Amino acid sequence: HKIYVPGDAAAVALGADKVAQAFADAFKAKGLDVQIVRNGSRGMHWLEPLVEVVTPFGRRVGYGPVNPKDVGPLLEAGLLEGQSASLYLGNVEKIPFFAKQQRFTFARCGIVDPLSLDDYKAHDGYKGLARAIELGGPATVEEVFDSGLRGRGGAGFPTGIKWRTVAQTPPQQKYIVCNADEGDSGTFADRMIMEGDPFTLIEGMTIAGLAVGATKGYVYCRSEYPHAIAAMNGAIKIARKAGYLGQRIAGSDYDFDMEVRVGAGAYVCGEETSLLESLEGRRGLVRAKPPLPAHKGLFGRPTVINNVVSLCSVPFILANGAKTYSDVGFGRSRGTMPIQLAGNVKYGGLFECAFGITLGELVEEVGGGTFTGRPVRAVQVGGPLGAYFPTSLFDTEFDYEAFAKKDGLIGHGGIVIFDDTVDMARQARFAMEFCGVESCGKCTPCRIGAVRGVETLDKVIAGQDRERNLQVVEDLCHTMKLGSLCALGGFTPYPVMSAITHFPEDFGRGAPLSV
Ligand code: NAI
Ligand code: SF4
Repeated sequence: HKIYVPGDAAAVALGADKVAQAFADAFKAKGLDVQIVRNGSRGMHWLEPLVEVVTPFGRRVGYGPVNPKDVGPLLEAGLLEGQSASLYLGNVEKIPFFAKQQRFTFARCGIVDPLSLDDYKAHDGYKGLARAIELGGPATVEEVFDSGLRGRGGAGFPTGIKWRTVAQTPPQQKYIVCNADEGDSGTFADRMIMEGDPFTLIEGMTIAGLAVGATKGYVYCRSEYPHAIAAMNGAIKIARKAGYLGQRIAGSDYDFDMEVRVGAGAYVCGEETSLLESLEGRRGLVRAKPPLPAHKGLFGRPTVINNVVSLCSVPFILANGAKTYSDVGFGRSRGTMPIQLAGNVKYGGLFECAFGITLGELVEEVGGGTFTGRPVRAVQVGGPLGAYFPTSLFDTEFDYEAFAKKDGLIGHGGIVIFDDTVDMARQARFAMEFCGVESCGKCTPCRIGAVRGVETLDKVIAGQDRERNLQVVEDLCHTMKLGSLCALGGFTPYPVMSAITHFPEDFGRGAPLSV
């Protein structure tokens, strides 16, 4: 017998460790020989801790959400035989939230034992690397270019072009840096895959190294992700021992090794140049670009910096071919996006699907509306620097360009839902306050603008000379947008201005605009 009890941080937060212990105690008491695998999450948060059992017929069925006190009765009811009992979910892949997805990048997450290389390989792991070794560096870069993959950290820059730029620099020490400083509100895709399927990131970084001629990789992970750090460190050790990291990886002529470095809790260290500063041991201060990290990055050397999800998308692309990936998608946004539904939502979690699904479908159909059952009023897409969309924009397709056209961004794919009790003037103030707290202080529009923004919005909220103060906020936003050195100051105007534009009544301005 084998049962799966997620070791994913979200499941653990909901009691998964206690559930695993309760199972272990019960098996010991009954003298049963059952293997407990601490897998990743399937990404359906409302069902966590979601326990899965492999039945004697090889079927995998789920039960959830399981409490430690449910363990005894579930075993009595025949859980190990996959009997239908309370909390029985059947085949979890048939649950509509899961069945509607197209899992390319997260194909193994929640299924495999995260620290079993055999399990990884049994589920198509390292097929991408084998193909990359066969193709060689230049053809691997072109394969990634042809897939249409764009940076999943938020900016959507074509990964193939970034890799080409690094590959074309003269041979020298080059680096692969993985940005795992996932700081956006409502996002957890990076964490989930590092915890649930860490070998995918190792394989993706190894392919990137081979492709551009880099022999060393770093995962820069935020300190708030202890489970992900442990999973990555554990998997790196196993991969190294098995010959998948180090010299002549997988019996090829390529060398590649990597390690995890832990940040110290600054949002701005997710910005690539301050991340590099931090990695080099300095304070996370943004560097001016150019030079691009692709030319002069870590320790002044050509560096590929990609987000976790971008790198984790690469093994699938190599294993299945660029065309399989680029055949799905919408407009210039090819492939799939792991979208994260959070905030006041009934069915929160990770939903990987092709680009092009509308925001309304995501929020109302996939997410099931709000958790409180009240009407949805606003949805913030793309983290704390993303715009607030009203329901009148729910026909917007999930696509980089479609969101940009409506003064928004999809960012790292986080969607935070609010019901009709939200006060959008307070949300606008929060955006400015966040920018003020997290600003690295290097440039004036962000450092000073954010503080003045909070003060001015406080006056608006207090009803003090509203129109004039709103005009000041708008002017400030304009300056921050055009004059900031990085996206933190430059994008804060998105949440602020979208709140003012779409929810004017919360700022004491007449009726809502019809959009
Ligand atoms: P950017 O547009 O400046 O750059 C995008 C990437 O392309 C960078 O890696 C840049 O170095 C590279 N690049 C640009 N031109 C290139 C060329 N010719 N050759 C090679 N590489 C080239 O955007 P930035 O400032 O890196 O990212 C902003 C985004 O970050 C925002 O859209 C926001 O959504 C996202 N973000 C994500 C967070 C998260 O938690 N994942 C947190 C905060 C912001
Ligand atoms: Fe630093 Fe803000 Fe300027 Fe970015 S915009 S460089 S965070 S001061």
